Amino acid sequence: MEIIRLKETTSTNTYAKRLLEDGIIKSQTCVMAYGQTHGKGMQKNIWEAEANKNLTFSIICFPDFLTAASQFELNKMASLSVYDLLKKKLLNEKVSIKWPNDILIENKKVAGILIETSVIGQKLNWVIIGIGININQEEFQPHLPNATSLIHHTGNELILDELLNLYIRLFEERYTQLQKQKFNKINSDYLNAMFRFGIPSKFIYRQNNIIATIEGVNEYGWLQLMTSAKERIECEIKEIVFIL
Ligand code: BTN
Repeated sequence: MEIIRLKETTSTNTYAKRLLEDGIIKSQTCVMAYGQTHGKGMQKNIWEAEANKNLTFSIICFPDFLTAASQFELNKMASLSVYDLLKKKLLNEKVSIKWPNDILIENKKVAGILIETSVIGQKLNWVIIGIGININQEEFQPHLPNATSLIHHTGNELILDELLNLYIRLFEERYTQLQKQKFNKINSDYLNAMFRFGIPSKFIYRQNNIIATIEGVNEYGWLQLMTSAKERIECEIKEIVFIL
């Protein structure tokens, strides 16, 4: 895959979208920036990452083998590819995927993913998979008490370009699984990697404190839980908060 390296941009997702709108990109491409001035997070949040210390990049792809309805497969595949990278670097730490696509080390967030899609009819026209992984940043703003980065676990600095090359290899492996329609494999790996899967835990669901156990994810990517009162819940991201 081609890699476009930028010293700085507003957001690699925005940059990637511009390339697509200009009709310049026709095959899988990675846009990476050593610094972002307006990094975007999920649910209209800002993604903060100190320049030259972290990986911030977006992968443009054209998954014409998926329908728009099955686009959560991309969330699973992308989360697993980042999970694979961290597992390779951190042999003894607990890495997990907090639904839908945050990557945690123990209870702290080390990476996030923002996927943007263009749909035409039932088909995915293009997809931008934006990924931020905290690597060598040692301190975070006080409003992000739950953030961590790789350096806190490896003890030494990592080389960003080397890590990105390794990541691209792992991404391509997972993408090939998806292309070959290995949905069962991706699904079981995702559930195995999932934070708090099968463990009764505390959540806030529609403003109420509950104890529930994650049982899975439905085909649209909604979280499936069983409450301690034996009620089944299927919910979207806006409806539920994990209590960490
Ligand atoms: C989240 O967890 O809220 C998602 C964060 C996604 C951040 C990455 S950094 C590279 C790409 N460009 C952006 O503006 N956002 C994504």
